[in-house]
Amino acid sequence: MVTEITSSDAERKMLSDAGYANPAINYYLEKKYMGHIENADQVSEKIGSCGDTMKVYLKFDEHDLIDDVRYEITGCAGAISAAMAAVDLVKGKTIDEALAINDGDVFKVLGNIPEKKHHCIQLAVKTMHKGIQEYKTIKAF
Ligand code: FES
Repeated sequence: MVTEITSSDAERKMLSDAGYANPAINYYLEKKYMGHIENADQVSEKIGSCGDTMKVYLKFDEHDLIDDVRYEITGCAGAISAAMAAVDLVKGKTIDEALAINDGDVFKVLGNIPEKKHHCIQLAVKTMHKGIQEYKTIKAF
């Protein structure tokens, strides 16, 4: 029997060999929160120390709970997996709860990513926080 090796299997192995744990790999391959929100309440952008860019789109519900988040990212696998994990952490949360989420929380959800990619988690969290802060300022909470 011939086992077909798909490109996603090859990518999975490459990421695993590089030090990405399975949850991080799944977030990267699924990219479930990549894209934009047409009628977003807030759109904010941040450039990382590596020169890569993230744009976050935030949608709040009528109680100002985080209803939906999307990211547009020009960055690495670490950045993409971290941003996707950050969305799962803040969905349904209040503004203050979302602002309390830090790099360590995202790292825990990812399981592991290579140490040289930890600044990519920082970029995902800082971009999210920037968007929430700017929304907060506009709404003058
Ligand atoms: Fe630039 Fe990861 S976001 S190296």
